[in-house]
Amino acid sequence: MIDSKLPTTGTTIFSQMSALASEHQALNLSQGFPDFGAPPALLEAMMRHVKAGHNQYAPMAGVVDLRQQIAAHLQRYREVDCDPDGEITVVPGATEGIFCAVMASVSQGDEVLVFDPCYDSYEPAITLAGGRTIHIPLTVQDFAIDWQRVEDVITPRTRMVIINSPHNPSGAALESADLEHLESLVERHNLHVVSDEVYEHLVFDNRDHHSVLQYPALRQRSFVMFSFGKTFSVTGWKTGYCVAPPALTTELRKVHQFVCFVANTPVQMAIADFMAAEPNYPATLSAFYQRKRDLFCSALKASRFKFTPSPGTYFQLLDYSALSSAADTQLAKNWTREHGVAAIPISVFYQHPPQQHYLRFCFAKSDTVLLNATERLCRI
Ligand SMILES: Cc1ncc(COP(=O)(O)O)c(C=O)c1O
Repeated sequence: MIDSKLPTTGTTIFSQMSALASEHQALNLSQGFPDFGAPPALLEAMMRHVKAGHNQYAPMAGVVDLRQQIAAHLQRYREVDCDPDGEITVVPGATEGIFCAVMASVSQGDEVLVFDPCYDSYEPAITLAGGRTIHIPLTVQDFAIDWQRVEDVITPRTRMVIINSPHNPSGAALESADLEHLESLVERHNLHVVSDEVYEHLVFDNRDHHSVLQYPALRQRSFVMFSFGKTFSVTGWKTGYCVAPPALTTELRKVHQFVCFVANTPVQMAIADFMAAEPNYPATLSAFYQRKRDLFCSALKASRFKFTPSPGTYFQLLDYSALSSAADTQLAKNWTREHGVAAIPISVFYQHPPQQHYLRFCFAKSDTVLLNATERLCRI
């Protein structure tokens, strides 16, 4: 036996619900991944590079061509200049990037602010770095940040703030006023930021994504994480990147080189080719996923669920309070068995779950699956 460093951590809810969905042959709208293929040109590029023998270690910071494509992408979509050598690091998934950023910056006893409901990898990373996670709930109505509450919990030990926009599981997206608040806060209190922007291209109803990179004083203190898995529908390729100023990038890479050393070579080369050939592809994603969100939501108008169409991500929260008063985790399991639709309970993303009755459904699924799922949900 060893003393666990993460004694309260078990199997993630994503693994649990996906296993249950497969056991009961339920429609799996729980875990966040598309059930449709990636762009064919991307898959072909991957095979080409594997067959061409590009199967050995890449440079530690990432394949040079890919880092150049990322810089061009950031210029195109966010109008910011980023140095591919000193500011961009390719990582094996945003999760690894977040882990390395936290490990590089958080020391024993440091406090890190997160907003509940929050993505489940943040707290274990903070704990393993010796830090303390300070949970601040988002507002119950619209999952917004209450900036006064943030000011109130800051102490001399506060070192970092982790934000996520568009937000998993609620879909909420930060406004420019939020980033201005954050910018002022981190300057006054000398804080660092991890900005998890893996759903940057999935924003709906003509919204703009506001990136931390577009706020110069904020950018100077931030590690900003992106995921090719989300953008190119290849979550299993586990590849993303971190943008941070040179001094932060140096420290991130010191950790990254001993956690993973490098991301997968042929994947990086294939993504670089695809980005060069199809620079407009990410711009098509909002319309693509908005149509799926609307299909899902309009089919649910006949149900007793209450909801507001999601502003971003590929998740839709449904309030089931008119159907059941059961706790969300138990209900998600029961409905997977009884009604054949799997979803994610959101109480698991809170330190202190409020009195809410939400399940999270992923609409990155084929239209047939979405319509079958809504038919079943309308029958409940
Ligand atoms: C908010 C958020 N951050 C990070 C990740 C992980 O991204 P990756 O697969 O690139 O590690 C996810 C995946 O679901 C996510 O929802």
